[in-house]
Amino acid sequence: MDLTGKRIILTGGVRGLGRCMVEKLLAKQTLVTVFDMDKEGLQELKAQQPSVNCVQCDVSKYEQVLAATDRYHDEFGAAHVLINNAGILYSAPLLRITGAGIEKHDLAMWDKVLAADLSSVFYMTANIAEKMIRTRTKGVIVNISSVSASGNAGQSAYSAAKAGVNALTATWAKELGLMGIRVVAVAPGFTETESTRQAMSGTLLEETIRKVPLKRLGKPAEIADGVLSVIENDFFNGKVFELDGGLII
Ligand SMILES: NC(=O)c1ccc[n+]([C@@H]2O[C@H](COP(=O)([O-])OP(=O)(O)OC[C@H]3O[C@@H](n4cnc5c(N)ncnc54)[C@H](O)[C@@H]3O)[C@@H](O)[C@H]2O)c1
Repeated sequence: MDLTGKRIILTGGVRGLGRCMVEKLLAKQTLVTVFDMDKEGLQELKAQQPSVNCVQCDVSKYEQVLAATDRYHDEFGAAHVLINNAGILYSAPLLRITGAGIEKHDLAMWDKVLAADLSSVFYMTANIAEKMIRTRTKGVIVNISSVSASGNAGQSAYSAAKAGVNALTATWAKELGLMGIRVVAVAPGFTETESTRQAMSGTLLEETIRKVPLKRLGKPAEIADGVLSVIENDFFNGKVFELDGGLII
């Protein structure tokens, strides 16, 4: 796909990897809309990049997604590209064995992570792809997954959500290909973002870096470039593009 002039919806574009994707997409002369729940962050983004259409929406809530996508379609018509990037990183094992006993995974956090990292992808794609099909718009859905999708000890909910994202990517590629819609995923390894620094203590981060053959974290720009590549290559479909410095081989 030639990105010039294309309408792109990106979820979670205020911070981290999404913020870097905004810059890369604008450099390709695309019309970028960011769906994010962070109201102040959206205001700052708008001040820095006035051409970006900013929409406040918690993508883990179906009613909000329905209202926001309806408004988008009324104003702009069908999108050409949807990038499902919004998500939360949460680390907890199924059972934490401590001196005081066995602590079970928090149930509310299980629901919250599944809603933010998996249901959000389903909600957004159902509404955006429906409009693409109704208007015969050919397009691309990009789901941001993670290397944790293959099962990462200490990340029960997050790993399950990202494995679900990979399964939906393959399923939707099979369902939507006939309508000219490709569905792909990009799975970053550990990347230099604020969320990575917050989620991992110094020693855990050092240990992780030691396991990466390249002995470093990924850069947000490297992940954003990967997202552009999978959108631009018209024969990439239904697969997960893993960008992890060789962590999982
Ligand atoms: N940073 C990494 O190392 C890494 C590695 C693998 C995968 N990922 C994935 O990349 C994506 C982005 O991660 P990041 O590190 O940039 O995160 P981040 O926390 O830096 O940014 C996430 C953005 O999404 C928004 N967001 C979160 N939940 C939302 C919701 N329910 N509705 C609307 N907006 C919401 C936040 O406001 C924020 O702008 C996530 O899907 C994450 O799982 C990140």
